[in-house]
Amino acid sequence: MEERERERKDLISEVEEILSSNIELSDILNQIMKTVACGLKSEVASLFLLDEETGELKIEASYGLPEEIVKNARAKIGDRSITGWVAKTGQPLILNGEVKNSQFNGVNPKIKSAISVPLKIGNETLGVLNVSNREKNVIFNEDDLRLLLSIANHSAAVVKSLKLQKLLFSRTKKLKILHQISSLANSLLDSNQLLSKITQISTELLLSDGGFSVLKKDEEIIPISEYIIEPLPKRLDKEYMEKLCKKVMERKDTLYLTPDSDHIIADFLREEEISCMLCRGLESKGKILGGIAIFRGKEKKRYSEEEVLFFNTICEIVGSALSNALLYENLLEKHSQLEKAYRNLYSYEKLVTLAELASGIAHEINNPLTVISALVDMAEMKIEKPEEVIKKIKEEVKRTFRIITGLKRLSQQKPSVQKLIDVNEILEDTILLLKPKLLSQKVEIEKVLQEDLPKIYGDEVQIEEIFINLLNNAIEALEKVRRIRVETKCDGENVIIKISDTGKGIPPEIINDIFKPFYTTKPDGSGIGLSLVKEFVKANSGKIDVKSEVNKGTEFTITFPVPHNL
Ligand SMILES: Nc1ncnc2c1ncn2[C@@H]1O[C@H](COP(=O)(O)OP(=O)(O)O)[C@@H](O)[C@H]1O
Ligand SMILES: [Mg+2]
Repeated sequence: MEERERERKDLISEVEEILSSNIELSDILNQIMKTVACGLKSEVASLFLLDEETGELKIEASYGLPEEIVKNARAKIGDRSITGWVAKTGQPLILNGEVKNSQFNGVNPKIKSAISVPLKIGNETLGVLNVSNREKNVIFNEDDLRLLLSIANHSAAVVKSLKLQKLLFSRTKKLKILHQISSLANSLLDSNQLLSKITQISTELLLSDGGFSVLKKDEEIIPISEYIIEPLPKRLDKEYMEKLCKKVMERKDTLYLTPDSDHIIADFLREEEISCMLCRGLESKGKILGGIAIFRGKEKKRYSEEEVLFFNTICEIVGSALSNALLYENLLEKHSQLEKAYRNLYSYEKLVTLAELASGIAHEINNPLTVISALVDMAEMKIEKPEEVIKKIKEEVKRTFRIITGLKRLSQQKPSVQKLIDVNEILEDTILLLKPKLLSQKVEIEKVLQEDLPKIYGDEVQIEEIFINLLNNAIEALEKVRRIRVETKCDGENVIIKISDTGKGIPPEIINDIFKPFYTTKPDGSGIGLSLVKEFVKANSGKIDVKSEVNKGTEFTITFPVPHNL
């Protein structure tokens, strides 16, 4: 007797030692099971824990049981198993000899002896601790029962910690998931893609059989996506989804539907054998933008309070992400509309410029042609120095060609072509094109063009348009002193072009605005010229700068890099 007493004390202190050790909580419980089984000379020890939500008991730790049983063994509060009975009554139980009592139907009849005690903290039963024997002839007595109760008390604290740990773990995991959903939602800027992805994620995360979402655009409800894992027995057609979503859209809170809900849609759930459904509108700043619903099929567990909360949080996150996506789409659309308008306006302005130039040029071409025809007449009369006459004729013909080439180039509507170009040549051509205007407006042009200027790599049409716009602006800005200076030079790295005028200048308060599209101070201006200049300079790897003084004049400086590998 004394020996047994000592053994018991040893057992308790062994359990205490395990409890104070530094190992994982779940391993602690398994070690306790082993100690208990050995200490009570029994074959099996097992600890069932209670899932409060379902009332089910599952094995958390054990000794002497095959893995298959550990995994699959289930008891339910108040069922006819010993574990179920102890969990229900909160009373311990000793069985010696074969179990015959019909009260415990379902208990393995081969069990010869067992003790089963509840695991309690205060009045709360957390689970049941069992030791049992099938083969061994072990007779349990009251002392054994007390021993097991004492060990159950010790273990209860561990179990409580374990449960808290699990809860914390699942909360942390959920938070992490929500964080991921939030990052994902905010990175998707396409509303369709966003809703499809979120429908899929919430269906899967909330262990549902399907989900669908809709978008509300201009008071119209547009089905976006459906994600069905388990096909429904009957139908869940688009028409029905829309109807359902319209109902959901009227509200900002979650609608939790079950077949016995007092709601017209409950009929549908009964028909489709859907056990539960969560639906909610997606809103941002009080405006409903869409809706989402998920459901579970026949005989599936209902959504728990925590799951509803999780669904709500997802919907809140998605609401604001959806609002961003819609704003972005709207912005893109507006932008492309604006760009189109801008292009249209520019081709219109270009047409006006061309028409204006053409009328001047008709006159300009007349001059060389008159000279040529006079010279030809002279040649006919056989004058003394035919070489000189022919040289002059050639010059005039060349000039005519250049005028026409410049005009043709400007009227082209071709995609950008990059090639090596001579900036001086284009400047000369441009001035030639503008000559009629310069003459009629009495503008004096001063050209300081560096000889042997390196060629640059660029699009000659765009470069010509840059010069036309800058020169036109300069002409329009001139007042009393009517002079424009055009200069080119090279500093080794860059070709530098300066176009300066003696015009009215640009007030400092607007100098930052002049490159903006549609900014103009002229009554009949379009404000497109400089915005295009800026775009073309950039497209040709150049830079543009402006310096101006009111009533003195303005100077635009453009630099283009000299290509290195030439
Ligand atoms: N050389 C210049 N001298 C004075 N102001 C200028 C000059 N070039 C441009 N600006 C100012 O910049 C504005 C924008 O020019 P631009 O984009 O070519 O449009 P627009 O010529 O149709 O007004 C002009 O309205 C004018 O106020
Ligand atoms: Mg202009």
